[in-house]
Amino acid sequence: MRYLSFLLATAVLLPAADPTFYKDVLPVLENRCIECHRPGEIGPMPLQTYKQVRPWAASMKEQVETGKMPPWDADPKYGHFANDRSLTAAEKATLAAWAKTGAKEGDPKQAPPHRQFVEGWNIQKPDVVLSMPKPFPIPASGQVDYQYIVIPTGFKEDTWVQAAEIRPSDRSVVHHMVIWIREPGNKWLRGEANPGEPFGPPNGLQRGDTGGLGSEILNIYTPGMVPDVWKPGQAKMIPAGSDIVFQMHYTPNGKATQDQTKLGLVLAKEKPKQRIITLSSSNTRFEIPPGDPNYEVITTLQLRNAATIESFFPHMHLRGKDYTYRITYPDGKVETLLSVPRYRFNWQLAYKPAQPLLIPAGSKIEGIAHFDNSPNNPNNPDPKAKVHFGEQSWEEMAVAFIDVAVDVNTTRRDFMRRPASGDHE
Ligand code: HEC
Repeated sequence: MRYLSFLLATAVLLPAADPTFYKDVLPVLENRCIECHRPGEIGPMPLQTYKQVRPWAASMKEQVETGKMPPWDADPKYGHFANDRSLTAAEKATLAAWAKTGAKEGDPKQAPPHRQFVEGWNIQKPDVVLSMPKPFPIPASGQVDYQYIVIPTGFKEDTWVQAAEIRPSDRSVVHHMVIWIREPGNKWLRGEANPGEPFGPPNGLQRGDTGGLGSEILNIYTPGMVPDVWKPGQAKMIPAGSDIVFQMHYTPNGKATQDQTKLGLVLAKEKPKQRIITLSSSNTRFEIPPGDPNYEVITTLQLRNAATIESFFPHMHLRGKDYTYRITYPDGKVETLLSVPRYRFNWQLAYKPAQPLLIPAGSKIEGIAHFDNSPNNPNNPDPKAKVHFGEQSWEEMAVAFIDVAVDVNTTRRDFMRRPASGDHE
C-alpha cells in the first residue's frame, strides 16, 4: 500500500521518462504558453506544432529553468494567485527532459485537444468594441508626448462590464496605456479636441496630473498584461453617457509605424453583486541619487472601508528592482501580500489573489519599491542621473494599483470617504 502510493506520487511529480511532443510537451504549451505564443499575440514565435517548436527545444529549457518564461514574477512564498502561470517542477522537468532526449515527436494521436480562442481576442467575443477612429502615426525616433483620445461610449444606461481587453494594432510601440471612464459631469480634458481626435499634452495639465479629476480607471495595458476578466457577480461600471479616455504612451522603436488601438468589452448579463474599483497610491516626491543600487520609495493607502482585494499591479520604470505589498491590519499585525523580488519593466503583471482577500476597515497597505540606479542595472538609461517622478521611462514612478470589490452601489469616491456611520478607524 505504501509502495503503491509512492508510485502514484512519483508518477505525478516526475516527468515522463521518454517524453514526446504530443503526449508530454504539447499539453504544457497549450496550458501555459500559447496564450502568447500563437499568431497575432505577443510571443515572438508560435509554439503550436511540432515543426514550430522543435527548433526552440533547448531555448525553452533554458527559459523555463531560469524562470524567464512563462512570465510570472511573484515570490511563491507569499500568497496564491488565480492567474499564476508559473510551471510546476514536473512541467519544467518535462520540457528539460524532452530537450535532452532529442526532442522526439511521438504519436499525434496522443495530442491533447486544442485550446480554443476567439479569433483576435483573449476574452469572449466582445459585445462592444470602442476603437481609435484613426491610426496614430508614430515616428521612427524621438519622444512622443502622451496622447489622449476621448471616445464617447454612447451608453444610454449604466453599463456593467464583465471583461475588458485592450488590443493595440502595433504592440511594438505601445509602452503602456490607461483607459479612464469620464463621467458626464467631469470637466477633465473637456474642450481639448474633438472626440476621437488625439491630442497631447493637454492644455493646463500639470506634470503628473494624469489622474482624470476623479475619473475611474477602467483598465490598463502593459506588455504581458492579461485582459481583465472579473468573476461572475463582479463587474466594473460605466455610467450612462460616459466617455472613455485613452491615454497612450508610445515609444518609437526605430521604424515609423502607426497604431490603432481598440478596446473590447464583454457586458455583464445581469446586475452584479459587487462593483470593482481601481485604487492607487503613488509617491511623486522622491529623488533617487546617482548610482544608488537600492533606493526605497514607499507609498501608503489607508483604507477607511472594508473591501476584498481582487488584484495587485505594481508599477515602476526602468530602474525598478523589486516591489512588495505589505498590509498593517487595524490590530497591528503586519503581513506581506505580494512580493516581486525581480521586477521586470517589460513584464508588468497584475497578480490576482486566488482566495478572496478580505481587508478590514482601518487597514494600511504599503507599496514598497526599490530602485537600482547603479551601473549594474543593465536597463539603467543613466546611472549618473538624479531621478525624479515622471512619465517617461527614464524618469521613475512608484505606483501601487489595487483593484477591490465593494458593494455594487458604492462608488470609488464613497469608498475613499470616511464611513458615514460608526468610526472604524
Ligand atoms: C504572457 C505571454 C507569454 C507567455 C505566457 C509565454 N511567453 Fe515566451 N515569450 C513571450 C515574449 C513577449 C517573448 C519575447 C520577449 C521576452 O523574452 O521577454 C518570449 C520569449 C520566449 C522565448 C525566447 C525567444 C527568443 O527569441 O530567444 C522562449 C524560448 C519562450 N518565450 C518560451 C516560452 C514557453 C516555453 C512558454 C510556456 C511555458 C512561454 N514562453 C510562455 C511571451 C510569453
